[in-house]
Amino acid sequence: MDFLSSSAAAVVLLAFYLSLCNGGKTSIYVRKVEKTVDMPLHSDVFRVPSGYNAPQQVHITQGDHVGKAVIVSWVTEDEPGSSTVLYWSENSKQKKKAEGKVTTYKFYNYTSGYIHHCTIRNLEYNTKYYYAVGVGHTTRKFWFTTPPEVGPDVPYTFGLMGDLGQSFDSNSTLTHYEQNPLKGQTVLFLGDLTYADRYPNHDNVRWDTWGRFVERSVAYQPWIWTAGNHEIDFAPELGETKPFKTYAHRYHVPYQASKSSAPFWYSIKRASAYIIVLSSYSAYGKYTPQYQWLEEELPKVNRSETPWLIVLMHCPWYNSYNYHYMEGETMRVMYEPWFVQYKVDVVFAGHVHAYERSERVSNIAYNVVNGICTPVKDPSAPVYITIGDGGNLEGLATNMTEPQPAYSAYREASFGHAIFDIKNRTHAYYSWHRNHDGFAVEADSMWFFNRFWHPVDESPSSH
Ligand SMILES: *[C@@H]1O[C@H](CO)[C@@H](O)[C@H](O)[C@H]1NC(C)=O
Ligand SMILES: *[C@@H]1O[C@H](CO)[C@@H](O)[C@H](O)[C@H]1NC(C)=O
Ligand SMILES: *[C@@H]1O[C@H](CO)[C@@H](O)[C@H](O)[C@H]1NC(C)=O
Ligand SMILES: *[C@@H]1O[C@H](CO)[C@@H](O)[C@H](O)[C@H]1NC(C)=O
Ligand SMILES: *[C@@H]1O[C@H](CO)[C@@H](O)[C@H](O)[C@H]1NC(C)=O
Ligand SMILES: [Fe+2]
Repeated sequence: MDFLSSSAAAVVLLAFYLSLCNGGKTSIYVRKVEKTVDMPLHSDVFRVPSGYNAPQQVHITQGDHVGKAVIVSWVTEDEPGSSTVLYWSENSKQKKKAEGKVTTYKFYNYTSGYIHHCTIRNLEYNTKYYYAVGVGHTTRKFWFTTPPEVGPDVPYTFGLMGDLGQSFDSNSTLTHYEQNPLKGQTVLFLGDLTYADRYPNHDNVRWDTWGRFVERSVAYQPWIWTAGNHEIDFAPELGETKPFKTYAHRYHVPYQASKSSAPFWYSIKRASAYIIVLSSYSAYGKYTPQYQWLEEELPKVNRSETPWLIVLMHCPWYNSYNYHYMEGETMRVMYEPWFVQYKVDVVFAGHVHAYERSERVSNIAYNVVNGICTPVKDPSAPVYITIGDGGNLEGLATNMTEPQPAYSAYREASFGHAIFDIKNRTHAYYSWHRNHDGFAVEADSMWFFNRFWHPVDESPSSH
C-alpha cells in the first residue's frame, strides 16, 4: 500500500522531509491541478423528476435517539400536495402511513417550494423498508435499512464527507463513496453542504440543485448533519438576519430526542456508536445552551452499551494548514479537557479543504501563567481528523505550516472521503480514499483501538 517505496526519487524526497520536520507524514502525492467548477444548472445530476408535483430532493436522517425512527424530507414545487409517507417492511405487504408537515420560507427574493418533513417511528431494527412519497400526484418509491439494535459488539460502517458543494469534484467524491467496496451504511456529514451562499443573493436555487444532486445517496441511507459556516446565511445586506434559516427549514434532525434545545447540537446512538454533533457557529462558552447540554450529555454515554464515542463538528481544533488557522482554538479551550476525561475515540471535522489526521494528543495543561502550551501525546485523547475535502467550488487548501507539527500524523491536499468501519467493541478500521485513485484504493488508513475497552497506543509513530 505504500506508494512511496515504488520510486527511489520519492524515498530521497521522504528522507529530506523527515530531516526537516518533527511531525508525521506530509504526503508527496501531488494532485493534478485543474479548476474546481460547479456543475451547470442543466447537468444530469440536477434533473427535476418528471410528473406533476413530483417529490424531489428526497432525503432521510435518523429520527430518534436509538435508530428506530427516520425523518423523511422532500420538496414539491407545483402545490403543497400530501405530506404522507407510506412505508412497509420488505417481508410485509401491509402498508403503514405517517403524516408529516409542510413548510416554506423566503430568502431575499427567493421563495422555496413546499418542504415536507415526516418522522416514521417504531420501526424494527435491522430491517429493509420501502417508502413512498408524493401520494395523490406523482408517487416515488425508495428504500432504506434500519440499523441493528444498539449494542456493544454490533459492527457498523460509517462514511465521512465534508464541505461537499456541487462541483464536478463533488460528484466525483460522491461517486467514490458510493462505489467504495467497504460500503458505508450511514454518512456522517461534517458541514458545508451546498455553497449556495457563494452565489449572488445566496441564490437558494442552488440549495434545490444540491438536494437533487445528493438524493441518489441520501434517499436510501441516512446522512447525519452537522452545520458549517456556509449554512449560516447571515446577510443583513439582503435583509436576512436569522442565522441558519435556509438550513433549518430544509434539514431536520432529532435534536429533541437528546434533550437539546436547538437543531445545531445533538446526539444519536447508532449500532455500537454514540455520536455527538456540535456547532462551531453557535455559542459554546460557559453558561450557553450548548455548553450546558454537552456538560450533561457526556456523562450519559455508557461505553458498555455504545463503546465508540465519536464527535462531529465543522471547524477543526487541530489543523496545520494555513487556512482557517486557529479558528477552532476557542472551542478547543472550552471543551478539550472533557474530551480527554470522557475518552472520546475520534473527532471528525471539515472546513479546511484538505485531509489531515492527528496523533492522539491533548493540550490542556495551560493555565495562562505556567507556559505549558504544547500538544503532548495522550492515550486518553481522541484522534482528530479533518476531512473537508469534499470538492466544493472554493478548491483545495494546499498551503501548510512548516515544519509539520509533531501532532500531525498525515496530511495531504486532495479531494476524497473516508470510512470508519466498526468491527466490535475494541477494533475499528479507518481509511481515507482520494478521488484520483480507483474506488478500492486506500490513501491513508489505521486501526482504531477503542479508548474504553482497549486503550493501547495504536499510533505507528509511537514505535
Ligand atoms: C432576485 O433579484 C436579482 C437581482 O437582485 C435578480 O437577478 C433575480 O432574477 C431575482 N430573482 C427572483 C426569483 O426574482
Ligand atoms: C456525476 O456522476 C455520475 C456517476 O458517476 C455520472 O453518471 C454523471 O454523469 C456525473 N455528472 C456530471 C455532471 O459530472
Ligand atoms: C450501561 O449499559 C449496560 C449494557 O446495556 C447496562 O447493563 C448497564 O445497566 C448500563 N449502565 C447504566 C449506568 O445505565
Ligand atoms: C502560505 O501561507 C503563509 C502564511 O499565511 C504565507 O506567508 C505564504 O505566503 C503562503 N504561501 C503561498 C504560496 O501562498
Ligand atoms: C475484534 O475485531 C478485530 C478485528 O477484526 C479482531 O482481530 C478481534 O479478534 C475482534 N475481537 C473479538 C473479541 O472478537
Ligand atoms: Fe467551512
